[in-house]
Amino acid sequence: MISTNARYQLSIEFEFTNEERNALRDALATVNVNPYRFYDAFVHQVTGIVASCAVPERFAAYVAGLAERDPVQQPVIWIGNAPVDEGVPPFDFDEPVKSKYELKKTFIAEGFLAIFGVMRKTPAIGYINVNDGDVFQDIYPKRGLQNSQSQKALQAIYFHKDLANHFVRPDHVYMLGMRSDPVNEVYTAFVRNIDVLEAFNEVEQKQLRSYDFYTPFDDLTVNGGNRELGDADRHPLLSGENDIRFFENRTAGLTPEAERIVDKLKQVLHQVKHRVFVRPGDFVCVYNNYAVHAKEVVRVGDEETLRTRWIIKTVNVNDLAPHAEHMIAGTTHLVNG
Ligand SMILES: [Fe+2]
Repeated sequence: MISTNARYQLSIEFEFTNEERNALRDALATVNVNPYRFYDAFVHQVTGIVASCAVPERFAAYVAGLAERDPVQQPVIWIGNAPVDEGVPPFDFDEPVKSKYELKKTFIAEGFLAIFGVMRKTPAIGYINVNDGDVFQDIYPKRGLQNSQSQKALQAIYFHKDLANHFVRPDHVYMLGMRSDPVNEVYTAFVRNIDVLEAFNEVEQKQLRSYDFYTPFDDLTVNGGNRELGDADRHPLLSGENDIRFFENRTAGLTPEAERIVDKLKQVLHQVKHRVFVRPGDFVCVYNNYAVHAKEVVRVGDEETLRTRWIIKTVNVNDLAPHAEHMIAGTTHLVNG
């Protein structure tokens, strides 16, 4: 792990012992439905595992403690040695999601993401325009989107907040490492929003709060094509106490001052970032309203394995109720957009 900011140290804060990991893996292996076909049943069964006390006690206590966490100060959670599926073959570069449906026959990683969402009371959501509504999504390169700024990019994904200009913005992003070749220096980078704001004076912060910025909708949301979303709105870069809405190299300032602020913001992000090399079993969570993140490709040692780098993820909310009007009728978790 490379840390560039002495004020905030990122390190693994909970690590499963092999025994704990295996116990949880075995419990998750009892779930007998495919989460891509029967999502509600999958979550129902995972919830049953929590109720049956099959979750290692030390982990249950750790997760319960997260309720007390101050996300402003600690917006990134890093857990090590989490259970994942072993021996899943690489997916097809042209159609990685379809390939996953065919090749991935166990659902341990999905179970872990689901159980963490249940234990933390942060339900996962899917978007009808993103992977046809799948809750479990892959950060996995795809030929047709390799040059996009999406989870299917082959190269870097610039700093951003997930789904920042969508009408349903997730509160959390949960990412579980599945495959990464250490010869490729590819990092998931994080920036705390408070570290950014410290670099801006009062006048600049006022500019950050003006509606002088524009970000096009995410590549994946537009590419999904199930529902036409029209054009994105003008927005401030900073709202609330320290919510940063920004996509590096996509968000544009609409006035010369706004452009200058965008340039400065970009510089600051790279001054205060932290990098994590996500290994299989590394589980990294970011509070989406208190930090921004990126994928940084520093050095490629093997082009072939770069195409098979894989992180499985969900996006989650603190409460489904405020988003109910945007859900596909008859579902509680599927956003119509
Ligand atoms: Fe992201």
